[in-house]
Amino acid sequence: MRVLVSGGAGYIGSHTVVQLVAAGHDVVIADSFANSKPAVIGRLEALTGAHLPVHAFDLTDRDKTERLFADEPIDAVIHFAGLKAVGESAQIPLEYYENNLGTTFSLLHAMKRHGVSKLVFSSSATVYGEEAPLPYREDYAPLQSSSPYGRTKVMGEHILTDVAAADPSLRIAILRYFNPVGAHPSGTIGEDPQGIPNNLMPFIAQVAVGRRAKLTVFGDDYPTADGTCERDYIHVEDLAAGHLAALARLTQVDDPVSVWNLGTGQGTSVLEMVAAFARASGREVPYEIGPRRAGDQPRSWADPTKANSELGWATTRSIDDMCADTWRWQSANPTGYED
Ligand code: NAD
Ligand code: WQD
Repeated sequence: MRVLVSGGAGYIGSHTVVQLVAAGHDVVIADSFANSKPAVIGRLEALTGAHLPVHAFDLTDRDKTERLFADEPIDAVIHFAGLKAVGESAQIPLEYYENNLGTTFSLLHAMKRHGVSKLVFSSSATVYGEEAPLPYREDYAPLQSSSPYGRTKVMGEHILTDVAAADPSLRIAILRYFNPVGAHPSGTIGEDPQGIPNNLMPFIAQVAVGRRAKLTVFGDDYPTADGTCERDYIHVEDLAAGHLAALARLTQVDDPVSVWNLGTGQGTSVLEMVAAFARASGREVPYEIGPRRAGDQPRSWADPTKANSELGWATTRSIDDMCADTWRWQSANPTGYED
């Protein structure tokens, strides 16, 4: 298929592009580089051996999105483009709603006009809110989230469901990611957060490589085995493979909308992750215990059974693999793509 990857220069999009090309798909990238660097494209071309057409513009612009679809034949869209910082979304909620919903609107309009029916959408475990029982299952309702960012994902899911109900020729996959970490095993592409990392894994990696003095662990008085929060960390390579499996499955399903959790089903605590990273890197990861971070759930993990059975997909990479691959990327690129 010829696949438009929105946000294809970003962390998850870039890893998915590599697997799409390896599987024989043609890829077209659309990205504004709002949260990524153009340098990733050269790395992707080196990894894939393919020329990757890149359209650098803001996908909230409906006219430019329409022009892209007029210029490029497209069979399917994987829609990663969006802003994703939970804390920032509370500071600039309007930008988050405009960006995350506006990009989706532009793509849906252009898809309709050009007869493109297949869409894979990046959703998030955050849509399970604070009340869902563990492990999180796709049939849980009602969806809710505690941040404006998370609510863009809840709204995105509702919008896609409504649009598909009105146009049953659509085939939409809603993928709920748990906590993506890790990097391509080459160490040439990986997560490159701008500024101080919000997320645990890139923060630990920057401490290990010497860019930051120590990690602050956000609370050790949670009702968990060691008192720190537990999360379902998923290797970005397993996550990327889930997109290819979903895309293939969309050619077979009868339902216009399918929802799949992409997680391992296992929880790992903050302190377990710190210990695993120290093992993988051979470096110390100094940390101190700080106060809880507002909005954190004590525990979060997927029931991945539905994706396992319907997509024929399962994760294969361990926490140690996630740490080893993150360290290979971080140690070879201590300041990310700026090198
Ligand atoms: P990322 O920031 O690395 O990638 C997103 C890409 O989209 C960036 O390259 C950015 O420049 C681009 N982009 C943003 N707004 C755009 C716009 N208006 N027009 C064109 N391009 C635009 O993030 P990621 O971690 O790769 O996440 C990809 C998707 O997965 C996002 O939708 C995110 O919300 C979702 N998600 C991420 C996580 C996570 O923890 N990383 C978890 C669940 C869901
Ligand atoms: C993991 C654990 C922190 C940083 C977020 C979004 C979610 C999804 C994935 C997009 C928590 C602890 C972290 C630090 C720490 N993104 N931590 N010190 O919060 O589970 O999920 O990313 O959809 O929507 O909310 O991930 O990596 O921020 O935190 O102790 O410096 O690490 O408290 O327990 P989270 P995270």
